[in-house]
Amino acid sequence: RIVYLNGSYVPETEATVSIFDRGFVMGDAVYEVTTVLGGRLIDFDGHMTRLKRSLGELRMAMPLAEAEILAAHRRLVEENGITDGMIYLQISRGNAGDRDFVFPPADTPATVVMYGWDKPGLADNPAAREGLRIITMPDLRWARRDIKTVQLLYPSLAKMEAKAQGKDDAWFVEEGTVTEGTSNNAYIVAGGRIITRPTSHDILHGITRASLLRYAREAQITIEERPFTVDEAQQADEAFITSASQFVMPVVEIDGVPVGAGRPGPVTQRLREIYLEESR
Ligand code: PDD
Repeated sequence: RIVYLNGSYVPETEATVSIFDRGFVMGDAVYEVTTVLGGRLIDFDGHMTRLKRSLGELRMAMPLAEAEILAAHRRLVEENGITDGMIYLQISRGNAGDRDFVFPPADTPATVVMYGWDKPGLADNPAAREGLRIITMPDLRWARRDIKTVQLLYPSLAKMEAKAQGKDDAWFVEEGTVTEGTSNNAYIVAGGRIITRPTSHDILHGITRASLLRYAREAQITIEERPFTVDEAQQADEAFITSASQFVMPVVEIDGVPVGAGRPGPVTQRLREIYLEESR
């Protein structure tokens, strides 16, 4: 596989980064994951807008122009023959020399990495017909989840806990309400309305979330942006998640309690169809 590292396209075995890189030592890096469907990038502009916001919140400069990032994404898709899959982008504050909590000088070059992978049949994932069974866990992440940093240890532990219990994923709960999933935004459907937590520092501002809510409004579906409890989710007609790699994915069980009929519901299925149709 050919990958991108700081302006060069190299075989992955040749792409190496310093042991002093702050992404490695401090988790001082941000990332984006963009979906490729039929060779086309989905919502690329949205991912760039969020990337610039994440960098700005961490006082990092955008190390290369958006047009260059787009060109690199396209080249990785092409050179690696990706039809359906993902492109990962990570920007760290770079090689800062000896470990120090203080940021290195602002002219320290960032480390920019991009690579892609194939996910054949991404759009007809059989999990969408089955639905996900999830557990809930306290949200022990830091309080700036709107910044897309590579500090993913707690979400990773949560996913491992879900797997250990024979389930698919976890939703996080804070002060009695659901924040979001390990790597996705969370929704319920009740009385034909979509209920989802409003954006704030509590959750990542999902690019799929923004697009889906826009499409749902266009389809005259009512959206209530407010926090909801686990109990409310268990009593809801339907539940689902969104993310770049999963699009709209039904949730059919929460902490062992079936949601609605315990099968993917009609509103969720319709939203998945609308999302895929609009993005292609
Ligand atoms: N995860 N919430 C969290 C905590 C996430 O990590 C993600 C994305 C989302 C959904 O955002 P979007 O719709 O822009 O993908 C919500 C990516 C896909 C990942 O870490 O792989």
